[in-house]
Amino acid sequence: MTDKTSAAYGSLSRLNHWLGALAFSGMIIVGFILSYDVLSRETAGPIRDLHKATGTLLLLFALWRVSWRLVQGFPPPVPGVPAWQELASRLVHWGMLAALLIMPLSGVLMSLIGGRPIDIYGLFLIPPFAENREAAGLLRQVHGYAAYALAGLIALHILAALKHALIDKDGTLARMLSGKPATVQAS
Ligand code: HEM
Ligand code: HEM
Repeated sequence: MTDKTSAAYGSLSRLNHWLGALAFSGMIIVGFILSYDVLSRETAGPIRDLHKATGTLLLLFALWRVSWRLVQGFPPPVPGVPAWQELASRLVHWGMLAALLIMPLSGVLMSLIGGRPIDIYGLFLIPPFAENREAAGLLRQVHGYAAYALAGLIALHILAALKHALIDKDGTLARMLSGKPATVQAS
């Protein structure tokens, strides 16, 4: 009997994962609240400004997060994960990473192409560089559809993480929580 140890996520990858998960989930919730018009005009204005400023900063975070993954690749799955699940997880992970870029990029461009500045927390304004309402409308649609796609992928992703933790009990969730490599006994 030998021990087979799967590669781990480093502390930076785990910090990136959980900070990103929290920030993007918050942005999705606030975005939907804004677009479903449940807030009064006076409340919606400042919250939209916060959504835009935070989303613009998250573009920098996403650029860093995605390039890190492009350079580093993913650690191999824990031992025993079937090939189809490995493929499915790669597709979902890359889909989410793509959405982490598309969301802030479409948001920034819809504002700046549509003639609207981005107010970074009252510190400074990023001025618009065009006044093209049609292009801004298209980018608004991209922003909306990508948000639904990201929300769907996140739901699938959380269900898969729960299945690994509760049914397979294979250490996949543990290695993203504690960084501890999953170890299985291989004969
Ligand atoms: C960083 C990630 C971002 C996420 C996850 C996100 C998420 C969302 C979501 C879920 C919606 C509602 C979409 C719909 O139902 O059609 C939305 C709307 C919106 N987002 Fe974002 N967003 C992000 C970044 C940005 C940025 C950077 C800007 C602009 C600089 C921006 C500007 C807007 C605007 C103007 C709306 C429409 C709000 C309204 O209807 O009043 N977003 N966002
Ligand atoms: C309760 C919520 C979440 C749980 C329990 C969770 C769990 C996990 C686990 C266990 C992994 C490692 C998978 C493996 O080793 O193959 C992982 C990876 C990943 N997760 Fe999540 N996750 C959550 C939320 C999110 C959210 C909201 C996003 C996107 C905004 C996200 C994006 C990713 C990505 C891109 C990876 C691939 C590895 C990386 O680049 O960090 N996760 N997640």
